[in-house]
Amino acid sequence: MKRTDILLKGEKPLISPSLLAADFTKLASELERVAEADALHLDIMDGHYVPNISYGPAIVGQLRPYWGKAFDVHLMVSEPERWVDPFVKAGADILTFHWEATHHGHRLIQNIHEQGILAGVSLNPGTPVQVLDPLLPFLDLVLIMTVNPGFGGQAYIAEMEAKLKWLRRKREETNGKWLIQIDGGVSDQNIASASQAGADFFVAGTSIFKAESPENMIRRLRDLGRKA
Ligand code: DX5
Ligand code: ZN
Repeated sequence: MKRTDILLKGEKPLISPSLLAADFTKLASELERVAEADALHLDIMDGHYVPNISYGPAIVGQLRPYWGKAFDVHLMVSEPERWVDPFVKAGADILTFHWEATHHGHRLIQNIHEQGILAGVSLNPGTPVQVLDPLLPFLDLVLIMTVNPGFGGQAYIAEMEAKLKWLRRKREETNGKWLIQIDGGVSDQNIASASQAGADFFVAGTSIFKAESPENMIRRLRDLGRKA
């Protein structure tokens, strides 16, 4: 049984707190505060693909014994091909790379699958969702950015919900299996409309880690995101 089985087969919506908004001076106890979540979202930034640097595989590997659920790794890096092995070794269960960062998306998805983990592709707000059409049959997850990648705490771009609608329609038409994830500015103010548009997997940094009770916020987001 893989750590991702529950994500694929279990109830939706799924909630993945973004560690970027945690207090980095006490990461182990920050993980305990979000134990209610379905997965942990790990933002990898290289100061080249995005204008910020976060952390790398050494830290992800050190966190692995402290988190029993899936590691949902979001690669915001140039040359994502170089980082498959290090993050698989560090314990990644999902590797999501940016479509804009490689000419060889299909090959990269194959390489990720050869490592026995799930493969996702992410799109910046300025990239049309239709570019994913040829890759969709091979993907486990599509991540629609609802902010420009690089920083936590930015405002949700509601216009991205049009991409969610397209993806959900496409998934219905083709009997697709990919998860539809969003990331950036997700909170109790917008999760219901994002869910209605088609998202079923929600990344949230600031709204969860800065809440008085992250556990209650995760439950609240899950309730609001549950489709009516
Ligand atoms: C942005 C990252 C996000 C970010 C989300 O580049 O990919 O995962 O941490 O943080 P909030 O929820 O604060 O927008
Ligand atoms: Zn992210």
